[in-house]
Amino acid sequence: MAKKLKGIFITLEGSEGCGKSTQAKLLCSYLKKRKKKVLHLREPGGIKISERIRSILLDVKNKSMTKECEVLLYMAARAQLVDEIVLPALQKGMVVVCDRFLDSTLAYQGYGCGVDIGFINIIGKFATRELKPHLTFLLDMPTHKGLSRILQTKDRIEQRSLKYHNKVRRGYLAIAKKNPGRVKVIKANQSREKIEDCIRGYVEKLFKI
Ligand code: TMP
Repeated sequence: MAKKLKGIFITLEGSEGCGKSTQAKLLCSYLKKRKKKVLHLREPGGIKISERIRSILLDVKNKSMTKECEVLLYMAARAQLVDEIVLPALQKGMVVVCDRFLDSTLAYQGYGCGVDIGFINIIGKFATRELKPHLTFLLDMPTHKGLSRILQTKDRIEQRSLKYHNKVRRGYLAIAKKNPGRVKVIKANQSREKIEDCIRGYVEKLFKI
């Protein structure tokens, strides 16, 4: 799918408190300065329907949500986002920077909750229309450090145990190992500037800037 598109799709991934949202913003401003047409989105969310699904997913009142329901809701939010806004932007030749994508479901629901990885990949293809990021940055840091950075009230997923979040982190590292060309692992416990430089380096290579 991505081969037919003119645009570039970049995703940022990582466990809680890794700083990917800050880095996504910095990357977008950098690309805009380089005269690129940029669209910054987040998952789950980014558009009205998907933001509504996000509220259900993160609401602490929904403690009884099953892992099956959770996977399908993340995929539903993604399907809407891809179709409504990501694909049209990529068709126009824009750069789409997305805070989380399918790798999050593999790490959080697959490696974290034990949902079958093969099944996630199958419904993932359906939800994303087989769209794959050109480049993914995995911001990796010790789980307890990331969790201690969360200052606001923790949402339904953030409230899960340290053991759970460690599984998510290990899952991400396994995904990176399987996809070395696409997924670039960056140590997230270094300075904001160093992380930013590292991301820019990869992006400059991709754009041959
Ligand atoms: P955020 O805090 O990065 O905005 O992401 C929302 C939460 O949703 C975060 O705890 C990670 C979680 N999540 C999943 O569990 N599966 C997914 O597929 C996605 C996109 C996010």
